[in-house]
Amino acid sequence: MIWSSDISQWLLVLLIVYLSLTVWVYYVMPFLLVGTKSIKKRIIIYVIGDIGHSPRMCNHAISFSENGWQVELCGYVNSNIPARIIDDSNITIHELPQLTNSSSGKILFMIKKVLFQIVSILRHLWELRGSDIILVQNPPTIPILPIVAFYRLTGCKLMVDWHNLGYSILQLKFNNNFYHPLVLISFVIEYIFSKSSDYNLTVTESMKDYLVNNFGLKKSRCYVLYDRPGLQFSPFQGSLVERNDKIQSEPYMKNLVPLDFDLTKGDKLIVTSTSFTPDEDIGILIGSLKIYESSYQKFDNNLPKILCVITGKGPMKEEIMKQVSDYKWNRCTIQFAWLSSEDYPKLLRLCDYGVSLHSSSSGLDLPMKILDMFGSGLPVLALNYPVLDELVTHKENGLKFADRRELHESLIFAMKDAELYEVLKENVLQESSKNWDSSWKPVMKKLNLIR
Ligand SMILES: *[C@@H]1O[C@H](CO)[C@@H](O)[C@H](O)[C@H]1NC(C)=O
Ligand SMILES: *[C@@H]1O[C@H](CO)[C@@H](O)[C@H](O)[C@H]1NC(C)=O
Ligand SMILES: *[C@@H]1O[C@H](CO)[C@@H](O)[C@H](O)[C@H]1NC(C)=O
Repeated sequence: MIWSSDISQWLLVLLIVYLSLTVWVYYVMPFLLVGTKSIKKRIIIYVIGDIGHSPRMCNHAISFSENGWQVELCGYVNSNIPARIIDDSNITIHELPQLTNSSSGKILFMIKKVLFQIVSILRHLWELRGSDIILVQNPPTIPILPIVAFYRLTGCKLMVDWHNLGYSILQLKFNNNFYHPLVLISFVIEYIFSKSSDYNLTVTESMKDYLVNNFGLKKSRCYVLYDRPGLQFSPFQGSLVERNDKIQSEPYMKNLVPLDFDLTKGDKLIVTSTSFTPDEDIGILIGSLKIYESSYQKFDNNLPKILCVITGKGPMKEEIMKQVSDYKWNRCTIQFAWLSSEDYPKLLRLCDYGVSLHSSSSGLDLPMKILDMFGSGLPVLALNYPVLDELVTHKENGLKFADRRELHESLIFAMKDAELYEVLKENVLQESSKNWDSSWKPVMKKLNLIR
């Protein structure tokens, strides 16, 4: 009797172990590890920023989707997300909630904001557990990079796309002082966690060199993935007369074009976009146009009329507008505009030249606006800095300048030299036919992520 009750007790224990193992293997483990994942490979693309204003991350999302991945796109939704992404059944958008302004002080609000971000990110990551890869851009570094570095422990591979250096942007805010405690903290975090990524992408060759030389990433395991212009940017197809008609008739141009403006008489339309911040000195352009005015009066009254459209808004806009209205212009008209994201590409393709005054905080990234100008078929006049060589070649697809005098010289060439324009234009048109896929696919093949 004693013996057989022992047996049945053991059998009971075995049965319970068996049943709980089944529950564990078939329900608990999948719940913990896989979540809502299907059999497709799945990538989380995490943007700490407005999705609609992150064209590169949107491009990643579209490309991964086209190549058979399930894409979970997370980020703020403050502006329109391209319809191409919304309509894509392989891409799911997860909105990152935003903390609404409270009455508390600035520092307190910042701390609250970061804590709120951390909680929101962790919730998404839990919901999306079991994914194969998580792709983040850097910057911002804090708090996302440390979080995803630990998330790797769940088996999810980490891909970091280096757009820029977070600490160098912060450094600009603190009078370029590298030893400011916040800058130092930011640098250390970036340095430490840069090493935890499994896949490393950079926007330029120089950025790659920086990471290899200063952060100790392995050279052979870092890949340069050049940006390409968005698909909404394309060159104008048509004659000069047609382009002129378009300039006169487009609704957003209505208040910008002087009555007597006429491309067919040799007038020129140039454009620049800016966020009116101190690191982008629009004063250089205004100054050079003033010199152009005096060249016109003193030396050469054949210089073409220029209509210069400055798009964008930002902190120093008022000041610049005042500078412009305080001066008496004869040959140049400077107009300020704030265009919708649909109208901006339409304006670009109507212009003769684009101007870029972008200078880089790290000296390692390239201005997206030049790519968009190339995409629209415009040669550029670009403020030079070392890494710009990777994008603009002097007298091949644009002209580079260092200050207002050199920009003035370039303007004279650009406005008067038709032969130069033809050469630049042709090279730019060739450039504009290269698309995102042609830089994305080879890199992803090398990483064995697509076939
Ligand atoms: C979604 O993924 C499938 C493969 O799973 C692919 O055939 C299809 O083209 C993708 N859809 C889009 C819009 O890219
Ligand atoms: C949030 O509050 C700060 C100060 O409390 C203020 O400067 C800022 O303009 C507010 N932002 C919004 C979007 O209301
Ligand atoms: C990315 O860089 C890190 C650090 O050098 C390295 O451990 C990792 O293997 C790299 N990833 C790839 C896919 O090469």
